[in-house]
Amino acid sequence: MDLFSVPAPDSAIQRVNELTRLIDHYNHEYYMNDRSEISDFEFDALLRELIELEQQYPELASPTSPTRRVGGEVNKTFKQVQHRFPMLSLGNTYSIEEIEEFEARTRRLLDGTPFTYTCELKYDGVAIGLTYRHGQLIQAVTRGNGAVGDDITSNARTIPTIPLKLQGSYPDDFEARGEVVYPFDAFEAMNRQREADGDEPFANPRNAASGSLKLQNSAECAKRKLMFCMYFMMLPNDNENPSPSLDLSSHYSRLESAKQMGFKVQPYIKECNDINDIKAFIDYWDKERWNLPFGIDGVVIKVNQTDLWDRLGMTAKSPRWAIAYKFKAERVSTPLLEVTYQVGRTGIVTPVANMEPVWLGGTTVRRATLNNADFMANLDIREGDHLLVEKGGEIIPKIVGIDPDFRKPDARPIAYTQVCPVCGTPLVRAQGEAGFYCPNQDGCIPQLIGHLEHFVARKAMDIDSLGTERLKLLYDKGLINNVADLYDLTPAMLIGLENDKTSIQEKGAENILQAIEKSKQVPFERVLFALGIRHVGEVGAKKLVRYFGNIDALLAATVMELTMVEDMGEVTAIEVHDYLSNPNHRAIIERLRAAGLQMEAVDNRISNRLQGLTIVVSGVFEHFSRDEIKASIEQHGGKAGGSISGKTSYLLAGAKVGPEKLKKAEKLGVKLLTEQEYMDMIG
Ligand code: IVH
Repeated sequence: MDLFSVPAPDSAIQRVNELTRLIDHYNHEYYMNDRSEISDFEFDALLRELIELEQQYPELASPTSPTRRVGGEVNKTFKQVQHRFPMLSLGNTYSIEEIEEFEARTRRLLDGTPFTYTCELKYDGVAIGLTYRHGQLIQAVTRGNGAVGDDITSNARTIPTIPLKLQGSYPDDFEARGEVVYPFDAFEAMNRQREADGDEPFANPRNAASGSLKLQNSAECAKRKLMFCMYFMMLPNDNENPSPSLDLSSHYSRLESAKQMGFKVQPYIKECNDINDIKAFIDYWDKERWNLPFGIDGVVIKVNQTDLWDRLGMTAKSPRWAIAYKFKAERVSTPLLEVTYQVGRTGIVTPVANMEPVWLGGTTVRRATLNNADFMANLDIREGDHLLVEKGGEIIPKIVGIDPDFRKPDARPIAYTQVCPVCGTPLVRAQGEAGFYCPNQDGCIPQLIGHLEHFVARKAMDIDSLGTERLKLLYDKGLINNVADLYDLTPAMLIGLENDKTSIQEKGAENILQAIEKSKQVPFERVLFALGIRHVGEVGAKKLVRYFGNIDALLAATVMELTMVEDMGEVTAIEVHDYLSNPNHRAIIERLRAAGLQMEAVDNRISNRLQGLTIVVSGVFEHFSRDEIKASIEQHGGKAGGSISGKTSYLLAGAKVGPEKLKKAEKLGVKLLTEQEYMDMIG
């Protein structure tokens, strides 16, 4: 407490304790027992009151306060931490025979000693270890390479199923191990949002869970609805019970105790006596797994009595008292009905197999992507074929082949379409690319809508009150045909618009027009990105703006000049040039300029200390993200290089600097710079 702060009165202490108890209780009921005892509104009010009290009396803010779950701490890098006990992996197999061998070997080694097994689910997520001392969460670390992992404590704190403070009795010092999973419904909702924001969607829930744990701002992690499934209690000594009031003699009873302490332990765990029980458990979950709200990729079988573990010992990497059985991807064969084509935002045309509906992995599958023309040709897909479709741990079905049993000798090959399925324009194939695309950017409806969606996305013009349905509505009513039309919208045009999906009232119209007005302040590089020029992403747009400075210079640039921009190849340079030479695009750009959008780079130079220096950045830094450090180099007049060459002045090396870069720098005599030295240089 500092000298000037007022000590908390007893009434505040009491209220903080009361609020903490209530919020912890409601959280526990909601996340562990699926029960809502109060409304979201009432809950938020309690949380807000606690946040305010803690702000007023910082000495009352405990590290285990439920307010810590809101997040807000920012980690530029994650500290690498040595695991106190290595995080082992398990031997795993796809074969039931090997499970039988495991069971027989275990029985043989235990030589008549009575014992049981626990069978549980093998969660498909990210393994982490949580250290608890005196009932409080101290540290959360990812598995990493088993010996060293990343300290992700601030992100782990935001996961509601990770207790910050334990209840009842607990060992004074232990580690709770488990898997962080992304439940399917939350995963899908998040991916939909990412697409709407112009972000790349995650490929599967496991990648999403892993990406979320590595988010730099824990408040962002708090928004991802992650779940922790505990599967192991790691005690400093398995043969000593540190808490005699608890039964810690078996894996099963440890997990039961963990439940009492407040951990989420999935109920699908079974004590088994013999191989028949184990096989029954495997069979049951092989079919039932698709009805779970999260992904699993197998089951884990462990000897239950912990005092037998030492007797069974270890192989090089994994304990002999446990094994994982992994499920095979489920595969079915179903007749192909028709190949149709989808047109994406950028005009890419994707072939889709429409199939006789078939039950696969918990859902009815009717359609699956055929990716591109090359994929179709490699499959040698023909009329009347039956397709082999698989679903592994992921939720998206994949076509893996043609069922040879149903191939007819005279089956006619299916050729990839030559024209756009929507507007009929002949398709073109970009050099070196697997996909064909429709070049009719300004007249092909899915491209037009996609183009508008991209323009309003968060990373572009950030006009968030205009979602896809509203854009379609405006397009259908003839109010917008291109992005410049957005800036001509008036309240009278918007109010009262409706179709069967959405409508716009007075308040909605006001929000839309306000967001459009605000977008006029969006910096030039984002305006350029928003235009949706093929191959020009966020980074490319920044580089173009840095090189040319304003729209007039860019409009006047030749292909040759465009290739001078850092990392810009000829293909992209031609795309940019074609786009900017098109009279329709020029007209739109002029209208956007007239509407007041930013068409010039702002000079944000702070100093000239790095004038004439080219600095290549590699690794992770304590005070900057990689993008921030690059921006900082430029703000001080330097150039942030991409790869090391004779022209490089320094290699600015953070933790985990790329070994190749390091080697090259050494070879060319490029000097190394630490983060601290860099900060001294820029003052
Ligand atoms: S037990 C010594 N139980 O599967 C015991 N692991 O190689 C160590 N996993 O990455 C692990 N569900 O993170 C155990 N119910 C479960 C599990 C589980 C998923 C993961 C674990 C590890 C891998 C095993």
